[in-house]
Parts: sequence; structure tokens; C-alpha cells
Amino acid sequence: MDYEQVLECLQNEPRTWLVTGVAGFIGSNLLERLLILNQKVVGLDNFATGHSRNLEQIHAAVTPEQWTKFRFIEGDIRDLSTCRSSCAGVEYVLHQAALGSVPRSLEDPVNTNSANIDGFLNMLVASRDAGVKRFVYAASSSTYGDHPDLPKVEDRIGRPLSPYAVTKYVNELYADVFARAYGVESVGLRYFNIFGKRQDPNGAYAAVIPKWIAAMIHGEPVYINGDGETSRDFCYIDNAVQANLLAATVNNQDAVNQVYNIAVGERTSLNQLFDYLRSNLAMRFPHLENLKPVYREHRPGDVRHSLADIGKAKRLLNYSPSHRIREGLHEAMDWYVGFCKGEGAKNR
Ligand SMILES: NC(=O)c1ccc[n+]([C@@H]2O[C@H](COP(=O)([O-])OP(=O)(O)OC[C@H]3O[C@@H](n4cnc5c(N)ncnc54)[C@H](O)[C@@H]3O)[C@@H](O)[C@H]2O)c1
Repeated sequence: MDYEQVLECLQNEPRTWLVTGVAGFIGSNLLERLLILNQKVVGLDNFATGHSRNLEQIHAAVTPEQWTKFRFIEGDIRDLSTCRSSCAGVEYVLHQAALGSVPRSLEDPVNTNSANIDGFLNMLVASRDAGVKRFVYAASSSTYGDHPDLPKVEDRIGRPLSPYAVTKYVNELYADVFARAYGVESVGLRYFNIFGKRQDPNGAYAAVIPKWIAAMIHGEPVYINGDGETSRDFCYIDNAVQANLLAATVNNQDAVNQVYNIAVGERTSLNQLFDYLRSNLAMRFPHLENLKPVYREHRPGDVRHSLADIGKAKRLLNYSPSHRIREGLHEAMDWYVGFCKGEGAKNR
């Protein structure tokens, strides 16, 4: 089935989903899409990095009837009994909860490990015991570590460059073992720099796109770590949502118990990204017309270049990214501007 057919099928036959990390960036976008499709959704989050404002935005975006199909559990995936109660009666798990960010993991490997490995294992055990149909989880492009090949192909990985990368690789190992040992069906999605609305611009570990947009709007310096020729395969949130729904519902057994690159398959340097954002925002904020970035030291743990081969996801999941970077930035910009000038400005 292609994505349009999956959407139609879900609408005709609503299912029950668990989204962990539902108050975060990717989780809240999954929730919004599922509720719009009239699905029943259980959401789990402990607000470690997520926000209740994300849930409030969705409340405002869906109909009252759709909102009644959502049940929120405030709880921690490090607690097995919470994972068990969240999985009860669920058909598909979309496991997004984790502590993200390479620098955070370098500063705090212990907490990163417990959320990302202990929490992940709890979710797998709870999913197995609840008999869920499929466990789809957020893996990461950081798993490619120091492997030099470009584009990145799923079965050629190097050594991890950060504790975060270790945790995401361990997730894949556990998912694989649970498939063999207990028959738990899973799909791992190796996200490559996802961006879009509700990605938090604030805090020490913010991702580059929201962080730079906020700095530009507030007239603060925009720092580029290294010479700016570091590159990434930036992927708009709608592509990631599509990948999750395809992965949960795919029937082809060859497609299950696999990991997939989720990206666009195009590389953008940080210097190019700076230019895109500056020129896009300069239309609304004339003070940005001549803005220049501030270059500083390369950050440890960061890979130099990242570019995905998305052939496997296209072939086995029918994945077909709907947005390239510029289209995604264009679509998300109103949200970023509104947020940075309103709610986001208060917390800086
Ligand atoms: N955003 C990206 O570009 C990207 C890239 C690769 C992988 N990922 C992975 O995707 C997933 C979602 O990332 P995101 O960008 O939405 O981050 P996010 O920080 O916005 O969302 C993560 C959510 O998980 C919750 N959480 C963290 N620890 C928890 C715990 N112990 N119990 C319950 N909830 C907990 C947080 O409160 C937050 O709401 C993560 O697993 C992340 O590692 C993201």
C-alpha cells in the first residue's frame, strides 16, 4: 500500500496506538496526525524535555470528538509498570520517548543511558507481554558513527561517536533479539535531523534549525561549529510521520524486523542552511539582511557529513518523502515565528 492508501485504510478502520514521548516534537506531530485520522491514541510522557503546551496545541487543532479519543498518561518509561499499563489494549506502539542530543549524552551519559536503554527495554517487554502487533521505534543516524561512506546505507555502520549513539544502536540490537527470541515485530526508523513545528528552540540542547531561527528573530549571534561545511540530510516532520504510519501497517514480512534511513536523500551544509534561513526570515525581519554567522570550534561527537540512501525505505515501506528541506522550512516558518515571538520568548 502507498501512503494515501494507508491513510484511507486507517480512517475506515480506526486502530489503537501508543505514542511514547507524545509531548515532544516528533511524538506530538504523530499524535496530531493520528487524531485527525480518527484513531484512538494513548500518549505517555514524563515531560523531561516535552511540554504540555504541545498537547494544548493539538487540543486546539483537532475536533472535540477527536480529542476524546486521546488518553494521556504522565509517567516514566524507566518504570516497567507504567509501560505495562500504557500498552494495555494497544495495537501499534510508536516509541519516541528518549533523551535526545549528542552533547547532552556527553555531559550526562548515565541519565541518557537509563532513559534510552532501560526505558527502551521496558517498552519492549511491555509490548511483548501486551501482544502488540508492531513496535515502531525512533532509531538514529548517529548509529553510523565514524563510518566514512556516503550516502549511508543501513547495513554499513561504524563505531559510535557519543553515548547517545551507543544507546540508539543498543535499541536496534534489543529489537532484533526480541524479534528472534520472542517474535516481537519491530521496525526501527533511523531519523536524520528531523525538523518542523513544535521542535523546541530553547535550552542548551536545542537542534540547529529552531535554535538558529530563534537567535535570528531575537537578534542574537548565530554560531556555526566548525567551518560551516559540515552537512546534514535535513528531513521535514511530515516525512517522519509518514514513515511511522507505513512502518506500523506494512504487511510484507520482508519489511518487518528491519531498520530504515528516514531522510530525504539530499545534503545541505550549515553555511547553506544559514543562507536559507536568513533569506527566508529577512522578508519579515529586515535587520537580518546583512547578518553573518559566528564561526567557532567544531563540536566533539558530531559527525562531519550525513547523507542517507533512502532506497530501502522506498522499496520495502513505500516511503516517498513529501517535503524537501526548502518546502519544509517554508511550511514550518509561520509556526517558528509565531512561537519565538510569543510563548517561546518568555522562556529565553
Ligand atoms: N529530532 C531528530 O532529529 C531526531 C533524530 C534522530 C533520532 N531522534 C529520536 O526521536 C525521538 C523523538 O525525538 P524528538 O526530537 O521528538 O525529541 P523531544 O525531546 O522533543 O521528545 C522526546 C520526548 O520523550 C519524553 N521523554 C524523555 N524521557 C522520558 C522518560 N524517561 N519517560 C517518558 N517520556 C520521556 C520527553 O519528555 C519528550 O517529550 C527520540 O527517541 C530521539 O532520540 C530524533
